[in-house]
Amino acid sequence: MDEAPTISAMPLFDLIATATFGLENVVARELSDLGYQDTVVSDGRVLFSGTEHDIARCSLWLRSADRLLIRVGEFPAPDFGALFDQTMELPWNELLPVDARFPVSGRSVRSQLKSVPRVQAAVKKAIVENLKRRHPRFRFEESGRLYPIEISLLKDVATLTVDTTGPGLHRRGYRKTAGRAPLRETMAAGLVQLSYWNRERPLMDPFCGSGTILIEAALLGRRIAPGLGRSFLCEDWEWMDRRVFREAREAARAERLPGPVEPLLGYDHDPAAVRLTERNATQAGVAADIRVRRQEISDLTTRKEYGCIITNPPWGERLGDNAEIEAVYREMGRVFEPLTTWSIYVLTACRWFEKQFGRRAARRRKLYNGRLECQYYQYPGPRPPDSRPAAPEQAAGSADSEKAGGL
Ligand SMILES: C[S@@+](CC[C@H](N)C(=O)[O-])C[C@H]1O[C@@H](n2cnc3c(N)ncnc32)[C@H](O)[C@@H]1O
Repeated sequence: MDEAPTISAMPLFDLIATATFGLENVVARELSDLGYQDTVVSDGRVLFSGTEHDIARCSLWLRSADRLLIRVGEFPAPDFGALFDQTMELPWNELLPVDARFPVSGRSVRSQLKSVPRVQAAVKKAIVENLKRRHPRFRFEESGRLYPIEISLLKDVATLTVDTTGPGLHRRGYRKTAGRAPLRETMAAGLVQLSYWNRERPLMDPFCGSGTILIEAALLGRRIAPGLGRSFLCEDWEWMDRRVFREAREAARAERLPGPVEPLLGYDHDPAAVRLTERNATQAGVAADIRVRRQEISDLTTRKEYGCIITNPPWGERLGDNAEIEAVYREMGRVFEPLTTWSIYVLTACRWFEKQFGRRAARRRKLYNGRLECQYYQYPGPRPPDSRPAAPEQAAGSADSEKAGGL
């Protein structure tokens, strides 16, 4: 008779939170804030360890990570023999039930095993051989639940993972329709966390589009777990105790705070974008925290002080044409100039942004919005007079100017 996979009580998994290039340290800080101190950061991923409970908590709470994987094994694989033999010895029987669907995807970077289809086929065969040890049979039907496996070869080191997330973590569930050039939710959460904004300070996005930056800031400011509105692939797995996610959701709901002290302000010259932001904010349950209205960038003024502007203005490749974009950036320079106490953060793929804006950024960070290489231009303003010192890793800057250091 077939046995169910035998996961002993709360095993400790090696877990990988994947992240887009440039946001790895933001994800590591999120993990540290969640209580996971032993993280190892490398390109595109943060490694840590945890139980089923931790998988549930991190799925719900990680804001900037793309997905959460279980690392089943990692070993040198310079040839097919090494890849096959070592893959076959990994504990697949503990993870995959007899009817598991386990598609294998792969990639190979700077490795001797270059043929991804052959690498995938070798891994699939090795896993089948492993499963046959417990379930002797000719073939596996693969008619059950989904366990997506990835083989990643980097410099001849193989990493084998199972995806616990399903649709990427950016799919929060609140954005059914996006604007013309939307920002990923995970990226928007990263931009906010790379800034000095906190729930005590004004926040403005003068090019709000579908409202992603404002909504992610509201979720952060109200301590709402970004994954509360969706489900995750592993919830359905045979060995995942149903109580684990239920309890994690209950705990997350109990953490929610009332709205931020300052409303989050969004503007866009397109009335459809204004409506979209309102609809998305309502879906996300943060409509009361966000004020949005139609406004041209040239009309921007405010009496508020010590706020943060975090924005993703139009750029040539995706919206409008260059002359128009240049005019928009010049307007940004003009209308932001009087806001001497504000900190300004601009994500754009446009390489000549600073020239048109009229100021060199104190700091820049290369980030990818999808495949598009962007720069995050940072213009930190003075710290609010009555504020507590910034978090230690952020306080690396000077005393009178918030330098976004550390990450
Ligand atoms: C790159 S999109 C912003 C996307 C947004 N971050 C999101 O996640 O959906 C730029 C936005 O700027 C708006 N926009 C372009 N020119 C503008 C102007 N002169 N004044 C105000 N808004 C403008 C566009 O309507 C568009 O929604």
